[in-house]
Amino acid sequence: MKICVVGTGYVGLVGAAVFSDWGNDVVGVDINAEKIERIKKGDMPIFEPSLSEIVLKNISEGRLSFTTSLSEGVKKSDIIFICVGTPQSEAGDADLSFVWKVAEDIGKCLDGYKVIVVKSTVPVGTNEIVKKKIKENLTYNVDFDVVSNPEFLREGYSVEDMRNPERTVIGSDSEKALSIMRELYSHLERPIVECDLRSAEMIKYASNAFLASKISFINEMAQLCERSGADVSTVAKGMGLDSRIGPKFLNAGIGYGGSCFPKDVSALYKTSTNQDYDFRLLRGVIEVNKLQREYFVNKISRYFDGNLSGKTIGVLGLSFKENTDDVRESVAMGVVKHLRGLGAKIKAFDPEAMYNAKKVLGEVSVDYCLDKYEVMHDSDALVILTEWKDFSNLDLDKVKSLLKEPVIFDGRNVLDRKKVESAGFVYFAVGKRTNGTELLDKKSSSGSGVILRDGK
Ligand code: UGA
Repeated sequence: MKICVVGTGYVGLVGAAVFSDWGNDVVGVDINAEKIERIKKGDMPIFEPSLSEIVLKNISEGRLSFTTSLSEGVKKSDIIFICVGTPQSEAGDADLSFVWKVAEDIGKCLDGYKVIVVKSTVPVGTNEIVKKKIKENLTYNVDFDVVSNPEFLREGYSVEDMRNPERTVIGSDSEKALSIMRELYSHLERPIVECDLRSAEMIKYASNAFLASKISFINEMAQLCERSGADVSTVAKGMGLDSRIGPKFLNAGIGYGGSCFPKDVSALYKTSTNQDYDFRLLRGVIEVNKLQREYFVNKISRYFDGNLSGKTIGVLGLSFKENTDDVRESVAMGVVKHLRGLGAKIKAFDPEAMYNAKKVLGEVSVDYCLDKYEVMHDSDALVILTEWKDFSNLDLDKVKSLLKEPVIFDGRNVLDRKKVESAGFVYFAVGKRTNGTELLDKKSSSGSGVILRDGK
């Protein structure tokens, strides 16, 4: 099939690569000429396992090309995917300006029947407006259909997810468009959900909001476990064995981040208020996520008697999760800024995200280290903020010899409590009573033996 993919971000670039790898002729389009030149040389603008190899292979085999000309891409293709960004607007809803612009431009150069597929995450009702905008901008009197085909890729695993999605959602009111989309995905062995445009749009938001709710739920459970002496990891394991609950997305930590969950949960909440409905649960999910990181920073501050000035904190992890260089809406970055604001000096290391972190943190002074052990050298405490696998196998004797004080704050529960404590560390985790929790309880002037969420 002949496919045009507009936008070469995570979704568009991975989509273009995988569609071409399936044997289709694909043109990737982006307005950023520098980015297009980099991609053509196999220099990927994002860190995504195996992406560069697939792109180069399909370019050299003549199935994949890139251009800055939308009209060239549209004219060569039968299916046009819109994969541009829908960032959060100041008001908290999705900023659709890129989608509108692409829809108008597609309308201007549409030269025959084509299927226009919206893959960008867009609020309910958007596809109908895309249809209208294309129609209003048509130069030639041609027919077309609009399809909603949301993506469910996880960063760091996006090639794998694109190749073998657990489900494919296709929303359309046109049987002709549906049959074209069925053909594109015909080799997939997992379910295809065919539905109307609005339901397809909503499936995407409902999925992300539900996963975010799972995380906020387990983070609230973590608060309760820490107070009551239960261990949240064990509780999550016990819960997850129930197939109705499932084991995934039950890792307590410092909250969810990234370019999707925060913006999508916020946009869905905005959609609900726009429909005169107060989605109370989502309000709670957002609030819990914000408090979770504050609670973590409070613990660090309380350990140092509320005075972080002059203290050096060694930080492991800056990306919003493991296996990515993406720092957008990263909770780790938020914690670093917060600790700096409280006067701490920061030494930080991340296996992939240092370059992006430097760009984003800009003025915020951070000492970027070359490896995970360098951050510990002469630091007053070690703080783990991202769940990179490589942080779970620290040489504890080495860590102890490097730190000024043997203290670890594990914001992602990547370490084994028993091992860390028996190696002589004061250890803080999320949702478990540790020797660190006991110590803070003793320090607590209230004598209540309870660490309150707001740190009082
Ligand atoms: C998420 C969804 O998982 C994808 O299905 C979706 O396609 C994508 O958003 C999107 O809308 O484009 P992603 O943003 O790559 O994917 O990240 P996740 O793996 O979902 O993690 C999100 C955040 O939740 C991370 O900060 C992670 O650390 C946190 N998390 C995840 C937890 O705190 N606990 C968990 O148990 C799982």
